[in-house]
Amino acid sequence: MAAPRPLDINNVQGDILEGLGKKHQSFFFFRIKAGQASGFRDDLRSFIPLITTTTEAKKFHQAINEGKKEAAKQGKPFPLIENSGVNIAFSKKGLVALGFTDDIGDPLFENGMLADANDLGDDLTDWDADFKKGIHGVITVAANNNNVLERTVDRIKKIFRVGQKDVTIEEVTRLLGQTRPGAESGHEHFGFNDGLSQPAVQNVDAGVISEPLEKPVRQGVILLGREGDDGLVVPGDSTTPKGIKRPSWALDGSFLAFRYLKQLVPEFDAFLEANPLKGVPFPPAPGDPTGAELLGARLVGRWKSGAPVDLTPMRDNPAFAHRQDFRFDQKNQERCPFAAHVRKTNPRGDLPPGGTEVRRIIRRGIAFGPEVTDEERKQKRSSNDEKLERGLLFVCYQSNLGNGFHFMQQSWANNKNFPPTTQSDPNVPTPGIDPIIGVGTPRSMVGASPDLSASNQPLDFTAKWVIPRGGEYFFSPSIPALKSK
Ligand code: HEM
Repeated sequence: MAAPRPLDINNVQGDILEGLGKKHQSFFFFRIKAGQASGFRDDLRSFIPLITTTTEAKKFHQAINEGKKEAAKQGKPFPLIENSGVNIAFSKKGLVALGFTDDIGDPLFENGMLADANDLGDDLTDWDADFKKGIHGVITVAANNNNVLERTVDRIKKIFRVGQKDVTIEEVTRLLGQTRPGAESGHEHFGFNDGLSQPAVQNVDAGVISEPLEKPVRQGVILLGREGDDGLVVPGDSTTPKGIKRPSWALDGSFLAFRYLKQLVPEFDAFLEANPLKGVPFPPAPGDPTGAELLGARLVGRWKSGAPVDLTPMRDNPAFAHRQDFRFDQKNQERCPFAAHVRKTNPRGDLPPGGTEVRRIIRRGIAFGPEVTDEERKQKRSSNDEKLERGLLFVCYQSNLGNGFHFMQQSWANNKNFPPTTQSDPNVPTPGIDPIIGVGTPRSMVGASPDLSASNQPLDFTAKWVIPRGGEYFFSPSIPALKSK
């Protein structure tokens, strides 16, 4: 068997291994017009030069970092570089329309997210009708300036002849994300610093911050056909020892799981205020008279600054915001509840070493929607006005959806018995579902309070605070694969 060639990051779309620099992001969901597949392929050739590769995305970030350092030296504010980033990904239906008809070796991708919604725990009545229409692909545009973003989107529309008789794509829907204002920039709508913990990828240095206690993941955990991918592509011999076949055009592509997640922010905040934790001497920290901040931190597993509760259990410490050197070594819930969102989605030392490598995903989400209004805050309820809807446009990359996003949602977040902490000691309470994204019963959590005797009283959640409104599984092909069509 020939070994795959060394990875050339010029071939990999930039959002996967580096991330597109952004304050604003547009997700343009499209269908290829019936009868226009060949015209679409022609237009795609004109579109490909616009795609931001990993190399270009890295250069962009380097320029920003250097510019910031330079500006800091001169005591000046650094004007944001307004450059825009562009990527494209296709659903199964889109790949077929493009002429990539062979099975890529991932049943979840082949069948699409709508078919998986039940297993993910979604209520399809909450899904936006547009995500039930059969989307062919998504064009992602990211920029630090909204005008630049819209100009780039217009330029792309022209390439695909939008507004002309022989148009080759039609818009299904467009979702717009933007980072939150001021100091909340980088924080999702519940107020927590997001996008902190990412796996580092071997020889790529993809992690925003690598985890000193965690080995970098093999490239194949994120990219198809690289070492560590279950369905390794070997050019000239695409049959793996396991018998899974990946077509050779899949090399250096990645599966993109997109989730349109609405967040009920006033309801979440009201819950935190209404549930003082039992057994904790209050106020636990200055500025947190009711313990709402502590409860929120324990539901997420990090304080709003990003500081992990496993390292600083009783009060926020912004100096710890980027720390990754924690392993949940304490096998009770005093420092971090078993069900905390970050413990559920990356259980670190709760599983044997190496046990989580194939479960790692790279996240590239962005917040959408306006800030909570005074009226909503007063009513402690989200408005019914769709224009005020807010949440997270969640994007993640992996080489195998059944190992990555799907597994994480179904078998970890929605599974009240995960992490398997009770196996060795029947007296340890069942963790409960992930309070942020978990679906299932009971909707309660035993480890809410750091006082373990009090924590044996489960805390009931009133309702879900994150509502999936749609999504799709896409494949983000390598640049050479796109050029081959
Ligand atoms: C981490 C919020 C949805 C997987 C985090 C963090 C926050 C957060 C605040 C901690 C900061 C960080 O390390 O980035 C949210 C919110 C969501 C959401 C508000 C929904 C609106 C999801 C979904 C998944 C997911 C759907 C996957 C099924 C992860 C993972 C981590 C994480 C893997 C990193 C854990 C670690 O390595 O420590 N999330 N998240 N999140 N989230 Fe989410």
